[in-house]
Amino acid sequence: MYGLKLKTWKSSLLIVASLMAIILAFSYLPPALLVTFGGLVFLLSGSYVIGHNTWKQTKDIGSRPSLAAGARPVGARPQRGERKSGGRKSRAEARASRKVEILHPEETVTLSGEREAADIEDVFTSLDNQLVGLVPVKKKVEEIASLLLVDRVRHRFGLDAPRPNLHMCFTGDPGTGKTTVALQMADLLFRLGYLEKGHLVHAMRDDLVGEFIGHTAPKTKRTLERAMGGVLFIDEAYYLYRSGDSKDYGQECIDILLQVMENDRDKLVVILAGYKDRMDVFFESNPGMSSRIAHHLDFAPYKLDELVAIGRAMLDQSFYYLSADAEMAFREYLTLRMGQPRFANARSVRNELERTRLRHAFRLASEPELSRTKDDLMRLEAADILASPLFTLAESVSAVEESARRLSR
Ligand SMILES: Nc1ncnc2c1ncn2[C@@H]1O[C@H](COP(=O)(O)OP(=O)(O)OP(=O)(O)O)[C@@H](O)[C@H]1O
Ligand SMILES: [Mg+2]
Repeated sequence: MYGLKLKTWKSSLLIVASLMAIILAFSYLPPALLVTFGGLVFLLSGSYVIGHNTWKQTKDIGSRPSLAAGARPVGARPQRGERKSGGRKSRAEARASRKVEILHPEETVTLSGEREAADIEDVFTSLDNQLVGLVPVKKKVEEIASLLLVDRVRHRFGLDAPRPNLHMCFTGDPGTGKTTVALQMADLLFRLGYLEKGHLVHAMRDDLVGEFIGHTAPKTKRTLERAMGGVLFIDEAYYLYRSGDSKDYGQECIDILLQVMENDRDKLVVILAGYKDRMDVFFESNPGMSSRIAHHLDFAPYKLDELVAIGRAMLDQSFYYLSADAEMAFREYLTLRMGQPRFANARSVRNELERTRLRHAFRLASEPELSRTKDDLMRLEAADILASPLFTLAESVSAVEESARRLSR
């Protein structure tokens, strides 16, 4: 308090003195001398400000060596990829601290205790809440988590082994949950201490492969640098490689990836994603890549009942629901949509439900004078779904088919 007052006083006095000096100089000094004097004062104060600032910066760096080591100043917002980890340690730190307390061979540990210590229960809860079904995928995630938990416990007993290979391949049709699971996987690996930051960098061919000589290596390296400490998720990875195109730079990118996947496997996890059949062809042409992938997770297309359940869960999260008739209409809609081009499983469900909400809102708004209950605002009716242009399209297609049949008779 006192210090602040003294500082304010000092500044005020300085300002008053400068003002008085200016007024006196203006009244008594000849103009030429006034300009010379003013310029001199300006130069002196400029160099003081610059010098003081430089000294302060040098002092700050010197007095906070931890900043150079990557620590964040108190109160600073976390950077992209950083987490408010609630005091969680990086893998290196965690391993180092665990090294100190190697357990006696007679001691015992429980994996449930270890699971709690790693705080990974949230990831599984979130997986269950976000994703309906996908039982085989969730089982595989559990298996990977078990492998890493056991590895952690072994480490506590001093049983060191090379870090398990964690590069993965997620295959499946569009909208089957690959990206969603990859995000959860990144979080899981971070919590278990296998990734320093746990962020996910989404990349496609254009983010990795250049179009001119000398363009690809820097592009690939930049993307890899962004992903360090987290997951590099390469969507439609088969487009990296164009067989038979000698002018393609994809192979250069694959070679760099292979090297980093081998040498920096404790800093980065690569997840390749795409359609299963195309990934199989890609692996056949790139056996080096295939041998570096430890875990394959296959995301099967959803069946009708699963899609309906996914829709129900999505609506539930936003306090909407389908009336009994609306659910039947939604089934009909999905049956038609599944046979259409560009059907994208759960994403198509999400998109259609958003359009249904729009029609529901428009239906309510078109009779603005009617009183509405809470239930009216939550309940989607069959009319909101049957108004989809897909039904009109299907009707005209069957009409055309019918007339074609009649003509052929
Ligand atoms: N099993 C599921 N339950 C609930 N929502 C799901 C499920 N699977 C996917 N979704 C939702 O569908 C949308 C698309 O999922 P996501 O982006 O993970 O699919 P993707 O396989 O990566 O698709 P693409 O191959 O087109 O990139 C997301 O909004 C996601 O939350
Ligand atoms: Mg995706």
